[in-house]
Amino acid sequence: MDFGLIEFFKCKIRNPKLKIKKILHFGIPTFQYTNWGKAPNLLITRIKIVADYIEAKKSRLKYYQKIPLYYQTKERKLVLYKPAGKTIEEVRLEKELVPGKLYIKQEDKIKAIQVIQKVFNRQLSEDVRSNNPDKVKETLVNIVQETLAEPRSGSLEGVSETVNILINEYTKDSDVIKNLLIVSKQDYSTVIHSINVMAIVLGYANFIDCSLYDKKILGLSALLHDVGKTKIDTALLTAPRKLTDEEFNEIKQHTIRGHDILSRCNFRYKEIATTALQHHEKLDGSGYPYGITNIEQTAQIVGFIDCYEALTNDDRPYRNAMSPLKTLKLIKQDVQSDKFSRNIFETFAYSLL
Ligand SMILES: [Fe+2]
Ligand SMILES: [Fe+2]
Repeated sequence: MDFGLIEFFKCKIRNPKLKIKKILHFGIPTFQYTNWGKAPNLLITRIKIVADYIEAKKSRLKYYQKIPLYYQTKERKLVLYKPAGKTIEEVRLEKELVPGKLYIKQEDKIKAIQVIQKVFNRQLSEDVRSNNPDKVKETLVNIVQETLAEPRSGSLEGVSETVNILINEYTKDSDVIKNLLIVSKQDYSTVIHSINVMAIVLGYANFIDCSLYDKKILGLSALLHDVGKTKIDTALLTAPRKLTDEEFNEIKQHTIRGHDILSRCNFRYKEIATTALQHHEKLDGSGYPYGITNIEQTAQIVGFIDCYEALTNDDRPYRNAMSPLKTLKLIKQDVQSDKFSRNIFETFAYSLL
């Protein structure tokens, strides 16, 4: 049972002794109520309403033609506002002639995400064609954020189209991907990191001139390699200090959790789930989660570029970003100790020239 930040504070004010646990969705704070037994009845009803329905974002209402929307009465009952198949007229939205808050049923959540993914993917094609790198990145962040807020079968597959658009446009104009990396890196998060890794991986794929099929596998595997982090405490992921062994062991679990999530999705390529599992493995067996040495090629490429991207960006507040050259020098030590493939290292270094 999940609920949002405002609900969290309301509950705390009414009953400070309630135990409420913060859980993690890519930068979006969500809370779980952990001691049902002690909750006053009124509060249970209130939370249940919020749990069965989710608030719809105002900016997205016009797209929810296929999704029934609900509003809350003074008696706190949720009542149908518009059925599936009806659109809220733009003029009503502009003049704010709709209830302050509208809700979507939990069971329609995946359908609502798919609607938004389609809208944003269309937007992405337009942004790419209009040659506006800031807008392309903004739309990509929106797509990935929307998708990773509900990381499961039905929503994750929607980014296949996103990667298709980027690959198709990239074959026409290689600057599309290069520009993705130039735009500002503010608010560095797993979403931005995943997009950056995908952009660098697609640049690498283009340099080695692999097939369209392989580019799709590489692009999707890169974009979703850290999906398991949605199941790790955000506070741990962004801790401005060195982690304890126990905390680091928890973070390591993102590989296994990512593999679990992606194995349950309907992707045509098994490499996507395998990459989530193996991208922190090293060829000398010193990696995690299992210390294996026979790592799939896609996982090796994504793992290498993942490491490069994290070092060239400020992924943790206590660390400083490094220049590409310094990063390559540092990674070279890992190549010499047989952690990374020499072939991937050399090809990647040439691709940067
Ligand atoms: Fe990772
Ligand atoms: Fe990563």
